[in-house]
Amino acid sequence: MKLLTGKTAGVTGAGGGIGRAIALALADAGAKVMVTDIDEAAAQRVRDEILAQGGAAEAMHLDVTNQPEAEAVVRAIADAWGRLDIWCNNAGVSTMNRFVDLTEGDWDFNMDINAKGAFLCSQVVVRQMLRQPLDADGVRGRIINTASMAGKRGNAPFLAHYVASKFAVVGLTQAMAGEFGPDKILVNAVCPGYVRTGMQERELQWEAQLRGVSVEEVQRLYIEDTPLGRLETPEDVAKVVLFLASPLANFITGEAVDVNGGAWMD
Ligand SMILES: NC(=O)c1ccc[n+]([C@@H]2O[C@H](COP(=O)([O-])OP(=O)(O)OC[C@H]3O[C@@H](n4cnc5c(N)ncnc54)[C@H](O)[C@@H]3O)[C@@H](O)[C@H]2O)c1
Repeated sequence: MKLLTGKTAGVTGAGGGIGRAIALALADAGAKVMVTDIDEAAAQRVRDEILAQGGAAEAMHLDVTNQPEAEAVVRAIADAWGRLDIWCNNAGVSTMNRFVDLTEGDWDFNMDINAKGAFLCSQVVVRQMLRQPLDADGVRGRIINTASMAGKRGNAPFLAHYVASKFAVVGLTQAMAGEFGPDKILVNAVCPGYVRTGMQERELQWEAQLRGVSVEEVQRLYIEDTPLGRLETPEDVAKVVLFLASPLANFITGEAVDVNGGAWMD
């Protein structure tokens, strides 16, 4: 029997990057996974990867800023698989600029998807989890948010708005963990560092331009800032999410777990 045999899960922003790695890791551990993304074709490709590896998965369109869509996804999971054990609020975006040049649009885009999206989806997920009985481990459900090192370390150049959105995710994680602890809904977060994904590719370009240096120089700065001496992989993050999603973490709630190669320690 695998770690998550018999469990069901939903992952947002799972069409690529960290979300894809989370979906693959949960499926590999035996969970049935609903792969969701605003890019439905990308979600379907990840579902197909899981099926090709012998796992169980479905794919649906989900824009995390659209609560009726989140309701449809959670209903589909409950109808098909009976309950929702694990929900990963992973979808996120970034833009970069000097604070004085940030626009209201930058602020709204980052806050709407990173912070409000996690709120809107979590509300729907908690309503479903509260309706379901405890599992064999005495847990009703688990929510895992992809926050960021920028959710703890404000000193992140050109990312004031993103930092604010990720501090909000860490705060939401703690508030929900406190409120729903008595209901045995566990709410935790992971805080990745410099992860090689599409988001990082875009940030390297922006930061190089803003600093007036090469992309390679910015990448060197990221690695230099990381005591373990390399860029992080999506799989580095997914392994910690898998731990939090599993019975190994039955007595952990309200935590924002650093997984950043030592780039930020607290
Ligand atoms: N890459 C990093 O260095 C890093 C570090 C710390 C935290 N994070 C966080 O990890 C999460 C995943 O980031 P990533 O690096 O894999 O980014 P990515 O851009 O590679 O992937 C993000 C995915 O989210 C999807 N998405 C975007 N807007 C959406 C929306 N409104 N609704 C649903 N899906 C949407 C995209 O289509 C994409 O598939 C984000 O929350 C990000 O803030 C990333």
